[in-house]
Amino acid sequence: MYFGTDYYPEHWVYPYAGTPEEPESRWQRDAELMVAAGINVVRMGEFAWGLYEPEEGKYDFDWMKRAMDVMANAGIQVMLGTPTAAPPIWLARKHPEILPLDQNGLARHEGTRKAYCMNSSVYWDYCKKIITELATALGKHPQLIAWQIDNGLGGHETESSFNEETRRDWHAWLQAKYETVERLNEFMGTRFWTQIVTRFEDVPMPMKSPTVYNPSLLLDWMRFSSDTIVAFVRMQADLLHELTPGIPVTNNLRALTRCFDHFDVADVLDFVGIDSNATIKTKSAENACGMDMLRSLKKANIKTPGDDGGFWVVEQKANNVNWQEVNSLVRPGVVRLFTYQAISRGATGVLYFLWRQARIGSEKFYGGVLTHDGRGENRVYKEISHIGDEIKLLGPILQGTSVAAEACILFSHENEWAMEHGPQPNRYFNQREHNQLFYNALHDRNIPVDFARPTEDLSRYKLVIAPSLKLLAGGEADLLKLYVQNGGTLVSTFHTGLVDEHHIAPDNGYPHDLTDLFGMEVLEFDPLPPGEENHLTFKGAFPTSHLHPAKLWCDLIEPKECQILATYAKDFYAGRPALTMNTFGLGKAIYIGTMSHQHFYYDLIVWLRQLCNLFPLLKVPDTVEVSLRQKDDTRIYFLLNHQNSPVRIQFYKPMHDFLTGTVLQGNYDLPPHGVLVLDERMAQKQGPAA
Ligand code: GAL
Repeated sequence: MYFGTDYYPEHWVYPYAGTPEEPESRWQRDAELMVAAGINVVRMGEFAWGLYEPEEGKYDFDWMKRAMDVMANAGIQVMLGTPTAAPPIWLARKHPEILPLDQNGLARHEGTRKAYCMNSSVYWDYCKKIITELATALGKHPQLIAWQIDNGLGGHETESSFNEETRRDWHAWLQAKYETVERLNEFMGTRFWTQIVTRFEDVPMPMKSPTVYNPSLLLDWMRFSSDTIVAFVRMQADLLHELTPGIPVTNNLRALTRCFDHFDVADVLDFVGIDSNATIKTKSAENACGMDMLRSLKKANIKTPGDDGGFWVVEQKANNVNWQEVNSLVRPGVVRLFTYQAISRGATGVLYFLWRQARIGSEKFYGGVLTHDGRGENRVYKEISHIGDEIKLLGPILQGTSVAAEACILFSHENEWAMEHGPQPNRYFNQREHNQLFYNALHDRNIPVDFARPTEDLSRYKLVIAPSLKLLAGGEADLLKLYVQNGGTLVSTFHTGLVDEHHIAPDNGYPHDLTDLFGMEVLEFDPLPPGEENHLTFKGAFPTSHLHPAKLWCDLIEPKECQILATYAKDFYAGRPALTMNTFGLGKAIYIGTMSHQHFYYDLIVWLRQLCNLFPLLKVPDTVEVSLRQKDDTRIYFLLNHQNSPVRIQFYKPMHDFLTGTVLQGNYDLPPHGVLVLDERMAQKQGPAA
């Protein structure tokens, strides 16, 4: 298990620390404090280009080598960043064409970070040069165990640029995709408002325009911009693999909030690295959902340092952030709780952002492990040192364990892009909120969840939930059918199969290509404004704990072979099906034609659990989050109390707690923000404590 921090040695030299005689002397103290806190890895250098190459072609990596040597003496490993997220000022002054142009064609200027166009060949060449020099100078340092490529991909809304070089690449991308301009016109539907082109070079980039672009064009633009990011990452990954074979590469991804295909980026990386922004206001299930999404980006061919598998949190917030309206302190115990949440969901490395509150720059009031004074007497340092002690105990036990899920939620960026751009049937519909309703219901019942693209092999899952796949490519529909045909249970919803991969609506009924799977057809749909509701009337054995509303969207379903589980209670479609189930091959295809409140999804999961033989990990009160890491017959349970008050848990069987070495049985009060790491097998061997 790697336990670490993001360290900026360049911030801690004279005059900010050290002395005129020994400007770097503080590094030694930092390393001592790190060791005392149980830290065994640091990430460094992701913004250091301007110090590595203060003038073009004049390199200085010695200072970083000295910092790595200090870490070596302390037994701390190093992850180095490639510094391409912060090009030096001289580069932008010499080549202003690298600056990204926005939708208005205006440059976003140098002087901060991320001011580069990823289609610029000049920028690519400079990146290759600095990475080659860096890897040559430091790539053989014995402390180096991983690279982080760039930093915060797509951050600060830099996913797209509108430079002339971007235009060139865009046209080449379109030509590779469509081959002929006739095909492009056909699939993009350029007859609409007759925006027909006769040459690829005439296809516009979606710059500021009087009104909305054709969604087909926008969708391709998003795909192209995403491919640009993937190519930029691949360029760096290939170079690093060549220069430092065997050293894995990663990036610090966010929970799928940025506009590029995170699955594609993860394919290029050796392991997934993430930023976790868990702060005082974070809802535990939302954070868990983000972690599960990010873990799911890479399910095979994972190569982490130490071959532990899983993923790394390369930036776990140590305390308050600085970008909220009010940046309150993270309460005692909460950083520990979120650290365990990450570990419980598969993290094999957790690094806190950042080691010490910087005295300089725009992030100086961002909470760190150390405060500005650097003494190591502060609350957060003590808390993290305590976690460090625990991790030393847990590391060997967790070795080789991972998270296994039998339920899966489908997610695709293309689908989300199709729902975000252009006019929508209901602007109040939000795909992430819809996903979260299903996720919460599984999470709160302690059923592990993976996320997957619709194109993945789903056969390992007993239950697949596919909320609102508005965009459904022909191949994707076939894979869903295959999954059900072979015995899977699929749950789909309204807003499914309304367009194909070209953003063309079907002429053979909704949901596109799936009417046979669901044994019904959606003839019309009625989007409802917020506050206006219909209701569901249930038939048969579906358990209903509440009166369930139908909100935001009501599909008008024409049943064919399907069974009707619920109908609408009112309006001109009263009595028509709202919830259906169809047997298809060996499996079941369930369709929910509307959106409801959270209670409905809880009821749904209770029903589905029985239908699919899914079992909750442990029976504990709803407010306790439970996750499991396992390997062969080792099963390690994590119980997290996200409440500010104690929760009483009843253990029917003795459970051994790794953190305290005690055996728990009968009633136990898990303290506010408390954590238990339990094992059933060892407890049975040891028997209950006296
Ligand atoms: C991250 C970034 C860090 C820091 C942090 C602040 O995304 O990688 O450098 O800026 O955000 O929240």
